[in-house]
Amino acid sequence: MATFLTKPQDSSATQGPRSKALVRFGVVGYGYWGPKVIRNLDLLEEAKVVAICDKSAVSRRKAEKAYSGVLVTDEANELMTSPDIDAIAVVTPVWTHYELAKAALENGKHIFVEKPFTSNSAQAEELIALAAEKNLKIMVDHTFLFTAAVQKIKQLMQEGELGKLYYYDSTRVNLGLFQHDVNVIWDLAPHDLSIMDHLIEKSPEAIVATGQTHLNGHEDIAFITLYFPDKVIAHLNVNWLSPVKVRTTMISGEKKMLVWNDTEADEKVKVYDRGVNISSREGVYNLLVNYRSGDMWAPRIEQTEALSQELAYFVDCIVNDKTPMNDGKAGLRVVKMLEAASESLRQRGALVYL
Ligand SMILES: NC(=O)c1ccc[n+]([C@@H]2O[C@H](COP(=O)([O-])OP(=O)(O)OC[C@H]3O[C@@H](n4cnc5c(N)ncnc54)[C@H](O)[C@@H]3O)[C@@H](O)[C@H]2O)c1
Repeated sequence: MATFLTKPQDSSATQGPRSKALVRFGVVGYGYWGPKVIRNLDLLEEAKVVAICDKSAVSRRKAEKAYSGVLVTDEANELMTSPDIDAIAVVTPVWTHYELAKAALENGKHIFVEKPFTSNSAQAEELIALAAEKNLKIMVDHTFLFTAAVQKIKQLMQEGELGKLYYYDSTRVNLGLFQHDVNVIWDLAPHDLSIMDHLIEKSPEAIVATGQTHLNGHEDIAFITLYFPDKVIAHLNVNWLSPVKVRTTMISGEKKMLVWNDTEADEKVKVYDRGVNISSREGVYNLLVNYRSGDMWAPRIEQTEALSQELAYFVDCIVNDKTPMNDGKAGLRVVKMLEAASESLRQRGALVYL
């Protein structure tokens, strides 16, 4: 296991001088998402980015300009073997995650890996076993779990506000960003699948997926249905070819329903006291259904940056030897759902059991 540098003692602290562990990061990938990871790591008192790696000369020039004094290289191995690095963030395309994550673990580094964790479940299982053997942490970037909206929804569900869960229905569509290496399911669905995994706390029993390719050989639109135990059903609409950006999720229970609109600046989550009551069950012809139409309220949602919270949590898990909730196993559960969806898609909507 890696040892940590210690930051200079803070002489201004009123409680007297205090030294803190410092987790030194190497970040691989400085494209769209990498700079966001680095910016948020940089803000943490207990973390420091000491090296950045990218294969692209353009990306390296940008990194050098933004972070003078930080080592910038095209050789990932330099980061993996450096004794001055405790943890590696893998922020590269999906097909590269496994090799980079494996090299990092083999060299005794904790890993923060972008979603989806790996390209298949065998790779994820191998990384989980390797990390366990070496007593290292894996965190998979399931960013949405750290949004105040998802945290509020989780709290409402745990407190029984919605009652027994009926369904989760999400639309996550926009125009682009097209990924070159994966289809829209592997790009966008990990967000919802990780949220469902977190909220429903059960794995689906079966998945159906349909979709179509129009532009670059990868499916750019897909519809996924997931059958969970206890009659909970989930549906996802993911699409790179939508004229407008929609991020709307409806979650319904026997007591209340909620709508989470992530494009709203305020009042992202609205809880509706609406539902359906069955008043009588005396005979098939005597079934009375009452619609309940009550108040709507919008819980207060903090304005926080999810990635910042997540990276602070990762550092805390490393320093205090805790297992992250979005660990390799959570990453594996999402990859298994993606694999089942891909198999169903290949068979034009066949029911695939997990
Ligand atoms: N959590 C989120 O909300 C979120 C958002 C966007 C992207 N992502 C994830 O982040 C990852 C990167 O996505 P992106 O949009 O930044 O991609 P990108 O193509 O913009 O950037 C990837 C960068 O990695 C570099 N790279 C590729 N292979 C490399 C290697 N072997 N060694 C060093 N550098 C290498 C590329 O040159 C490029 O600069 C993906 O896994 C994606 O799913 C997550």
